[in-house]
Amino acid sequence: MKKDKNYYITTPIYYASGRLTVGHCFSTVLADICARFYRHNGYKVFYATGSDEHGLKIAKVASEHNMTPQEFVDKTVEQFKFIWDKLHIQYDKFIRTTDAHHVKLVESVYNKLYEQGDIYLSKYEGLYCVPCETFFSESQLVDGKCPDCGRAVEPTQEESYFLRLSKYQKFIEEYFQENPEFLVPESRKNEIYNTFIKPGITDLCVSRTTFDWGVKLPFNDKHVAYVWIDALLNYLSVLGYGSSSDQDYKDFWPCDVHVVGRDISRFHCIIWPILLKMLDLPLPKQIHSHGFITLKGDKISKSKSNGFDPLTLVDRYGSDALRYYLAKEGPIFNDMPYTAEQFINTINSDLCNDLGNLVSRTLAMITQYNNGIIPAPTCKDEEEINIINACNELLSKCESLMSEQKISDMVNAILATIRLANKYIDITEPWKLNKDPAKKDKLNTVLYTLSETIRVCTVALQPVLTETPAKIFEKFGYSANLQTFDSIKEFSFNNYGNNVNKGDNLFPRLDVASEIAFLDSPGEKVVDKKEEKTEDKANTVEFVSIDDFAKVKLLTGKIIASEKVEGADKLLKNTVEIGNETRTIVSGIAKYYTPEDVVGKTVVVVSNLPPRKLRGIESQGMLLCAVDEKTDTLSLISTDKTMPSGCEVC
Ligand code: ME8
Repeated sequence: MKKDKNYYITTPIYYASGRLTVGHCFSTVLADICARFYRHNGYKVFYATGSDEHGLKIAKVASEHNMTPQEFVDKTVEQFKFIWDKLHIQYDKFIRTTDAHHVKLVESVYNKLYEQGDIYLSKYEGLYCVPCETFFSESQLVDGKCPDCGRAVEPTQEESYFLRLSKYQKFIEEYFQENPEFLVPESRKNEIYNTFIKPGITDLCVSRTTFDWGVKLPFNDKHVAYVWIDALLNYLSVLGYGSSSDQDYKDFWPCDVHVVGRDISRFHCIIWPILLKMLDLPLPKQIHSHGFITLKGDKISKSKSNGFDPLTLVDRYGSDALRYYLAKEGPIFNDMPYTAEQFINTINSDLCNDLGNLVSRTLAMITQYNNGIIPAPTCKDEEEINIINACNELLSKCESLMSEQKISDMVNAILATIRLANKYIDITEPWKLNKDPAKKDKLNTVLYTLSETIRVCTVALQPVLTETPAKIFEKFGYSANLQTFDSIKEFSFNNYGNNVNKGDNLFPRLDVASEIAFLDSPGEKVVDKKEEKTEDKANTVEFVSIDDFAKVKLLTGKIIASEKVEGADKLLKNTVEIGNETRTIVSGIAKYYTPEDVVGKTVVVVSNLPPRKLRGIESQGMLLCAVDEKTDTLSLISTDKTMPSGCEVC
């Protein structure tokens, strides 16, 4: 009997006919986030994925590659596993439909259903789509082509075995009505019910004689099992059902959620429950059916080869970037057109600007204002109460959204808390508090509140991001017991005293134009990069990478006061307003400018240099100048339009 805190989640098993696309990664990342979430929440989780390896399509592709089907799928499966490792997919078992124990289960299910009369012999005449392994009636075709993949269908006639689905019409109707949560989202349920169930379910052809790459039927070896029956049974065979080692089946069936794309929801919502009913087994609790990621209006699919490569994205931006993008932007309801611009903007806006900046600003302030030690909080004003409440509610909000598979909403809830913390910095202005010794208590409270909020958000983000949280915990010195879901149930006031370590920025800002250019021609880029490197050496120019350049934070600053530094005829001491902050920047420009010349100018400031003392004055930052040594001319770089201070120069 399954325990309450055992959780079973699956992805579809992917056709081993070609490479995986970002579309396939979507189902797998969603399920991985969910599995990780429940593991963090104290559940015993079984997360299954795998490969669908039988059928005519695979036999054809294998022969095009001069390989046997088995050789071909063995190679493809290695590629699948390689991508899942790159994306840090933590599956518990990988099932292959060519696994011996799976084949045995398919045989025994066919036997049982044949014996009990749910499978019978007849003749099939219809229009067959080879890539989709599906028969269609004339009326289901779109422009005379397959309604799923748009390819030509072939008229086919064969002696076949049929599954008596029609007998279960009433059962499935009632099941849909009595279990409103069975298929989510709601819109998909109406679509399936009205299109496929209400008009009447017909018996399904479940054997083929035109090829032999499949499971041979035990009662007639001229026939192989229909790939969809073969494939659906993976959800049971992966748990060891039907074998002597079926403990996982006992612990985890019925499935909590099958994550699938909308194209295959009807197989999961009609055939699968009826098949289970025929086998007298409990039905899965939920089918989560998501939309498609589309590229230029099409589903990204391997058979049409219009996919863009998940490995390119992971290698260039890291698996956290792709996982985050899919979790936040992925299409739950409607389809979503993918654009490189949207991908880069999401990373820049959420991971670099919101999360990355919050972490680096907080660490910089703790380093600068409190010798790198997280201070103890001492007061609690309205602005703290606000943020503490948000942190206190975060985990339960995530739990409830996750229970409804609303992963994008969960990510948005965490992001909202991160944004609240950034706003809290703007409201409390720690740089001003630091100037007034009487406000040290408040400054400490602000620094503490920020650190703790970052900790809460980072813990909550762990199911989504698999690399960044460890880096953040390390920077703040948070030990393992402060990384658990339990530890963020309530905002704590005790996590102070750690030495922080600022280190590198988490997410360097991406240059939108050059990244779009790269992503829009992914195939060629690797070669381009190698060529660039060779040319670099030939010209002996030392290039910096865009990542290194992005580390330099250039901002507009308005010089609001300036004076000569006594005893130093080259230096001006400038007071520079940068957004909400005011800084002293000592600059060697006195030979070229008087204080009156510079006051009122909007200049470009290198804002993230560490503070240093010049003639006893603490200076932080540098004013950018153009210098012509031949004519001994120096010119401050300023903006040619009136710009507010604090703007990013990029
Ligand atoms: O259908 N956007 O395998 P498959 C979103 N073997 N999801 C997408 C997508 C896209 N662009 N492209 C594909 C099969 N998918 C069967 C499953 S399960 C018992 C058998 C999703 O490799 C697609 O909707 O063609 C499906 O959920 C999954 O990837 C597997 O596709």
